[in-house]
Amino acid sequence: TEPLRIALAGLGTVGAGVIRLLDTNGALIARRAGRPILVTAVSARDRTKDRGVDIARFDWVDDPAELARHPDVDVVVELVGGSDGPALALARAALGAGKSLVTANKAMIAHHGLELARAAEAANLALKFEAAVAGGVPVIKGLREGAAANVIARVYGILNGTCNFILSKMEAEGRDFSEILSEAQALGYAEADPSFDIDGVDAAHKLSILASVAFGAQPAFDDVAITGVRHVLAADIAEAAALGYRVRLLGVADSGAHGLFQRVHPHLVPLSHPLAHVVGSTNAVVAEGNFVGRLLFQGAGAGDGPTASAVVADLIDIARGEFGPPYAMPADALAAQEVADSGER
Ligand code: HSE
Repeated sequence: TEPLRIALAGLGTVGAGVIRLLDTNGALIARRAGRPILVTAVSARDRTKDRGVDIARFDWVDDPAELARHPDVDVVVELVGGSDGPALALARAALGAGKSLVTANKAMIAHHGLELARAAEAANLALKFEAAVAGGVPVIKGLREGAAANVIARVYGILNGTCNFILSKMEAEGRDFSEILSEAQALGYAEADPSFDIDGVDAAHKLSILASVAFGAQPAFDDVAITGVRHVLAADIAEAAALGYRVRLLGVADSGAHGLFQRVHPHLVPLSHPLAHVVGSTNAVVAEGNFVGRLLFQGAGAGDGPTASAVVADLIDIARGEFGPPYAMPADALAAQEVADSGER
């Protein structure tokens, strides 16, 4: 059988993790995918850096956009990051050139998800982004496929490991925020710009993606009301604890009579709720479906192994020809939303 040929754009911890995972579990993955999944071409900023994996066996290209036109590539895996710029150029070029796209890029999907979904679906290609939300936790698949028969009333959770690590340590050690940020950064989970973590932007990117999947809407990052954890004090956390609560940065999306309401801010979570017991850099997502009830997805929201696990799960689906249900809303619902957004009622 023909292998599924992969290009990797970006060889940071996640890219190297994907190579290591395919090297380690390749035989099992080939059985489950029905054919081998092979990396054929790669692109990154620094060709010589030691990543702990052998990349000399892959075709190297300097400009990631070349991967979209590469003759030996079926699927482009975008791990460059950033909402626009080279990542978006590559994503558009890949779909335009008839190649399916797998990405871990939450910012790009939060801002351009609808455009990319339409481009993919118009060309019968896959667009997959399991790794963009909660790292290794299969929450996109869980909502799109596992809970596909349900009306979802609400989806919420701990979507930023850096903030949860900081809040957990503040509580355990009674120290203030600023003292712990550098420890969180040393963990390697923080964004290149750590203000994206602590000011809630990263969680909002992920929330807008979750909401789009749960409610069949387009990702609407600009509609998320955001407050981060910068102003939470150790004293606030101690006071909350005395009353039976923990402070958690939650992203929450509700669908109600007035439409979709999305926000990220520090919440008081009662000790009786499972999210109060999620500590450290772990992520957790709760979804409430009208037939399934309350679902809880929990696990590592970052790191090379978990994130690579999500990327390769998407590749296995593509190898099997399973693209999942369409993302884009039916044309008529979408048109109505666009008219509403533009104010022409
Ligand atoms: N900066 C993110 C976090 C990494 O701390 O959760 C995973 O998206």
